[in-house]
Amino acid sequence: MPTTQDAQTNADRVYIFDTTLRDGEQSPGATMTLSEKLQIAELLDDMGVDIIEAGFPIASNGDFEAVAEIARRSKNSVIAGLARAIPADIDRAGEAVRHARRGRIHTFVSTSPIHLAHQMNKTQDEVLEIVTRTVTQARNLIDNVEWSAMDATRTPIDFLARCTDAAIRAGATTINLPDTVGYSTPEDYAAMFIAVMTKVPGSDKAIFSTHCHNDLGMAVANSLAGVRAGARQVECTINGLGERAGNAALEEVVMAIRTRGDSLPYMTGIETTHLSRVSKAVSAASNFPVQFNKAVVGKNAFAHESGIHQDGMLKNAQTYEIMTPESVGIKSTSLVMGKHSGRHAFKEKLRDLGYDLADNQFQEAFQRFKDLADKKKNVYDEDIMALVDDELGSAADRIKLVEMEVVSKTGGTHRCNLTLSIDGAVSAVSYEGTGSVDAIFQAIKKAVDADPHLVLFAIDAVTGGTDAQANAHVRLEMNNRIVSGNAAEPDTLMACARAYLNAYNRLMMERGAPAQGAMESAAG
Ligand code: KIV
Ligand code: ZN
Repeated sequence: MPTTQDAQTNADRVYIFDTTLRDGEQSPGATMTLSEKLQIAELLDDMGVDIIEAGFPIASNGDFEAVAEIARRSKNSVIAGLARAIPADIDRAGEAVRHARRGRIHTFVSTSPIHLAHQMNKTQDEVLEIVTRTVTQARNLIDNVEWSAMDATRTPIDFLARCTDAAIRAGATTINLPDTVGYSTPEDYAAMFIAVMTKVPGSDKAIFSTHCHNDLGMAVANSLAGVRAGARQVECTINGLGERAGNAALEEVVMAIRTRGDSLPYMTGIETTHLSRVSKAVSAASNFPVQFNKAVVGKNAFAHESGIHQDGMLKNAQTYEIMTPESVGIKSTSLVMGKHSGRHAFKEKLRDLGYDLADNQFQEAFQRFKDLADKKKNVYDEDIMALVDDELGSAADRIKLVEMEVVSKTGGTHRCNLTLSIDGAVSAVSYEGTGSVDAIFQAIKKAVDADPHLVLFAIDAVTGGTDAQANAHVRLEMNNRIVSGNAAEPDTLMACARAYLNAYNRLMMERGAPAQGAMESAAG
């Protein structure tokens, strides 16, 4: 646990607080299953994340269980649970993080005039009283308490300082001043920290923290400005996942500090060679594809296309590369195995790639690897990662694809004949659509007797080559819930069907509905 004393003896150390599993998971469609959350938490812990915000325990039993289990399994990271300024929230968060080797309650309350007037209907004095009462309650449960001033960047400095003072007096060990709405600029954000720290006499008793949203694309710049102004904890998420435009991206903050030591003379405890692997795992679990030109972890982040750049790279990589692909864990695409590779080699490869599968998961993954190697001559690391992530993400699916035939004719019809297994019962339907994908999606809707709204549909290739696996992403909305699904297959249409089913399965899991409505086997 980073203590104030650590920060004082190690003034340049910046603590990384990852909120992928809380703020990140809050973004519409990014819901993760328990096993996915456990996998991500373990990767974050292994990568050296100082604090993992594992969830919002009062939100649901599922959230509580996830935080409690992550706490039980934690190794080095501090495990934080979020709580509103409500006694029941704080008790629940305390209960969830109790089993962690090092736990933290993170409680927050809004401080800006607009939130006080329109959301909370409270006066400043009432908020001050709430801060003292809730931080005291949290401190009576645990010695590691973070207090956040929601919408800090739109709060008058004097009031923000009075709240901070009250929180520190009540025992808060970390003070987080978020740019909740992504409105700040680096200069304003730095000035806010300096002003609050100067006004609060006991500010040296707590570690100050940044938490920046990316609505104007300045989340990382603002976070680093906060660090320059004296903050020593940065709250961020893998791939910048988070509410609306997301949070500051962990990989960008960490690599900026590592690469620009000349102007950012700080250090983090992150093992940066894990970044690429964790980014892929979060993308697979949240079903949020990483944009190709995303800094640090995008597919194109280290690709050099223009002749001049390629020429420079061949002569000296530093001509166009400010950090090496290896430093973030990108290995040059390696040909791994083919159809003659056995279980042992496959197990070794999984270990190399950072997977630790249970026995049954390993058997399934190995079978799928064999099937893939039969169809595809060269099986790359990326293929195996897509396959295993897909397997982990769909293991709990109640509706599975048994068989599919798609018949498409130029200027003619597009028909999908589909057989699904729904909670073990086999059902067949047929549908004619305006195109192949439309026919597939409509056939599934007919089979499950539901009509979710398709919010997003995208496909990309896992590797190069015409035999590359297709990675299909589907986001569905129903009853005000948005969920995403993902699938990787050598056959593009099959990937589309399985991604749709994966999303629909998650939709059902969340609303707890039966797998099948008034479904009848049908053909026609
Ligand atoms: O953006 C925000 O203000 C938050 C708080 C709960 C810390 O996420
Ligand atoms: Zn936030």
